[in-house]
Amino acid sequence: MAKNQQAEELKRILIVGSGGRENSLAWALSKNQSIEQIYVCPGNGGTANFEKCICLKPKSEDEKIIISECQRLEINLVIIGPEVPLAQGLANKMRDAGLTVFGPGQDGAQLEASKEWSKALMIENNIPTAKYWSTESKEEALEILKRFNQPLVVKADGLAAGKGVTVCKTIEQSQEAIKEIFSGKFGSAGNKVILEEKIEGPEVSIFALCDGEKLVVLPPAQDHKRLLDGDNGPNTGGMGAYAPALLINDEDLKDLTELVLIPTLKGLKKKKIKYIGVIYAGLMLTSSGPKVIEFNCRFGDPECQALMPIMGDEFASVLFACAQGEIEKAPKLTFKSEFSACIVAASKGYPESPQKGKKISINVESNSSLQVFHAGTTSDEFDNKITSGGRVLSIVAQGENFDKAFNLAYSSLKGINFDGMHYRKDIGYQVRNI
Ligand code: AMP
Ligand code: GLY
Repeated sequence: MAKNQQAEELKRILIVGSGGRENSLAWALSKNQSIEQIYVCPGNGGTANFEKCICLKPKSEDEKIIISECQRLEINLVIIGPEVPLAQGLANKMRDAGLTVFGPGQDGAQLEASKEWSKALMIENNIPTAKYWSTESKEEALEILKRFNQPLVVKADGLAAGKGVTVCKTIEQSQEAIKEIFSGKFGSAGNKVILEEKIEGPEVSIFALCDGEKLVVLPPAQDHKRLLDGDNGPNTGGMGAYAPALLINDEDLKDLTELVLIPTLKGLKKKKIKYIGVIYAGLMLTSSGPKVIEFNCRFGDPECQALMPIMGDEFASVLFACAQGEIEKAPKLTFKSEFSACIVAASKGYPESPQKGKKISINVESNSSLQVFHAGTTSDEFDNKITSGGRVLSIVAQGENFDKAFNLAYSSLKGINFDGMHYRKDIGYQVRNI
């Protein structure tokens, strides 16, 4: 930017996506006084609940139409929420059209879109991770399994909506999972298979906001991937979360930044990738040290919903500065010293085949310590809220400790109801007295 040119002010934001993550981002950004309007494309039944936030529903999902809408609306900052448009190169096309975007290009999104690519990046940069093998042949995969003679974790290489990983207890289960992937269970995402050594330990997620060169680290969070209490049942997108995760303290987080986040950004730079967006590292704290299980190229959902209420007011400026490639232009990001709890209410049948079209009754008064974030909801012509997906909405609460935050969240959840609603009763069991 020329020295005499006035710094562009952040006034109009467009968030791409329709989930709880995007709803919580819109809520957090709407608190910034200088922002005039936030469009969420396509958004959900809860988007317009927040001041300055509206759904943008272009006539088609065609990228060209979304880009021309951004230009017409003079959007200063686009935030791309989900991994699929990132992996399809939406950020590249938007940047080519002159827009300022928070979210990696197609090259950087490989961090999530190809497990083999991200494993190779970890190995090249000495980032600790489980041993692995990759192959495009079923016979070879079965041969590796036979040679290893232990159950291996079986993963589809590509994006599979969080369903592409099978953690196997027996060699037979690993064989079965290999055969399923090669029979086309995950379409082209399973053209290549990753076999991974099974590791053990508690899981925690860490996040960095990156401007291509530098990064700022967010508080760690813990997700609850399994559907049922006691971490039982199938994997889901996430049934609840809390932040900050107490499994790692400030010192550990500094060490993990040095061990994982900085080497990842450096590794991307070595590949000539200017990575602007979130690096999300899913870690397992094993007896032989922390290991990366996966990278995501975006905010986690529901982790983002737990994190947004503890972000300092600088959050919008930091995202904008990252998107401009100059994180140092923003004030230092601060975090509230509160504990934040998120519980997801899901539809009957989630994750396999969620019921839709149920009327939702919401008797919860949001306040500065309590939020309702919508995910799979729409509004009918009378502005009734109707379920439209598996994870319907979340209650998020904050308190001076986790017991207070979770008690408030669970008691408030009683004010929400829809046919078939279910939720885990033990979210945060690691940090509260139950
Ligand atoms: P992902 O989709 O990569 O996040 O994997 C889903 C879940 O599978 C993780 O949250 C872990 O609980 C589990 N998982 C993935 N990789 C491994 C591994 N190598 N060893 C044990 N569990 C794993
Ligand atoms: N909650 C896990 C994810 O966003 O991938």
